[in-house]
Amino acid sequence: MPEALALHHIDRRYGPVHAVADVSLAFEAGRVHAVVGENGAGKSTLLKMAAGVVTPDAGRVTVRGEPLSPHTAREAIGRGVGMVHQHFALIAVLTALENVMLGAEPVGRAGRLDLAAARARAEAVAREMEVTLPWDAPVESLGVGDRQRLEIVRTLVRDARVVILDEPTAVLTPARPTSSTRRCAAWPTAGARSSS
Ligand SMILES: Nc1ncnc2c1ncn2[C@@H]1O[C@H](COP(=O)(O)OP(=O)(O)OP(=O)(O)O)[C@@H](O)[C@H]1O
Ligand SMILES: [Mg+2]
Repeated sequence: MPEALALHHIDRRYGPVHAVADVSLAFEAGRVHAVVGENGAGKSTLLKMAAGVVTPDAGRVTVRGEPLSPHTAREAIGRGVGMVHQHFALIAVLTALENVMLGAEPVGRAGRLDLAAARARAEAVAREMEVTLPWDAPVESLGVGDRQRLEIVRTLVRDARVVILDEPTAVLTPARPTSSTRRCAAWPTAGARSSS
């Protein structure tokens, strides 16, 4: 079976900085992979290329053996590859639920937004993660821990089969990473999700 996600000779420069130099990596389904390196090693750049967010200068990304083409985040999400970013990508003035729905709005009959369906889906994912979130509160009123959990829910709601977590616990208090990490470790067995 082809790898859930694979990078083939991926390369990326930012001006004089060679952020990622000829990296090939394969991520198997049903496993948790970790990408480890010092600050500035190129981890975020590498993972953003895997998620279609940053375009490589050379090399290619495959999802279950098929090239990610076009190389865009929208295509990656459509193919089941979701990413939780190191730096928050939420819209502060929108509510938690609205942020979850952005770009993945369930549409009911007559093309109207199905808010009840969106809420039920978000709540189901949150329950699976063993977290509760204030769905109707604006994101700007949420603490960093809730924002991070919201980002993860947002990715999972999009039916991600490969979940890329870029240092998701860096902003959480010491007590929190334990429960988050435990949940992540359980994903592959729970639903054959693969994360890195
Ligand atoms: N958008 C950008 N423009 C210019 N340089 C960048 C950009 N993104 C990353 N870089 C540079 O590329 C190199 C790799 O950065 P990257 O953020 O991928 O590293 P990292 O391993 O994720 O680091 P950290 O552990 O601090 O998150 C660094 O030298 C960084 O300054
Ligand atoms: Mg980084």
